[in-house]
Amino acid sequence: TAQRTLVLLKPDAVQRGLRGEILRRIEAKGYGILALTQRTATAEELAAHYAEHEGKPFYPGLVEYMGSAPLVAVVAEGVNVIPGFRSLAGATNPTEAAPGTIRGDLACEDDLPVIQNLVHGSDSEESAAREIAIWFPEHA
Ligand code: CMP
Repeated sequence: TAQRTLVLLKPDAVQRGLRGEILRRIEAKGYGILALTQRTATAEELAAHYAEHEGKPFYPGLVEYMGSAPLVAVVAEGVNVIPGFRSLAGATNPTEAAPGTIRGDLACEDDLPVIQNLVHGSDSEESAAREIAIWFPEHA
């Protein structure tokens, strides 16, 4: 199925100079980049994007981390790109992420209260539609 997904290159990816490496992996896999923007996320964008995590112990640290510096938001498209990008990204925890994945190759754990794992990818078609509307209202 042709799909679109919302990818975020989180502030740690931008600060570490990994934008090119991550976008290269997305394009090398054969996915298209439909839209791309770099900006510092607003509190409103993060509250909407992470609504499902509100109240969790790591939520305040998550919002602090994600709003601390610029991030890059991307709409990627391709056949089964929603599960396909999550496969490219690897497991949430960088220690558990398999070698060959973005997180497995490029991220490692630290002792911060929130897991910094370079990228986000939508987990379902419903999430993708919701998240694309937050970051790219013009593509909703
Ligand atoms: P993401 O896919 O963007 O969705 C929620 C984020 O919260 C996740 O990536 C991690 O950055 C972070 N996260 C998820 N679970 C935990 C956890 N148990 N402890 C700390 N941070 C977490």
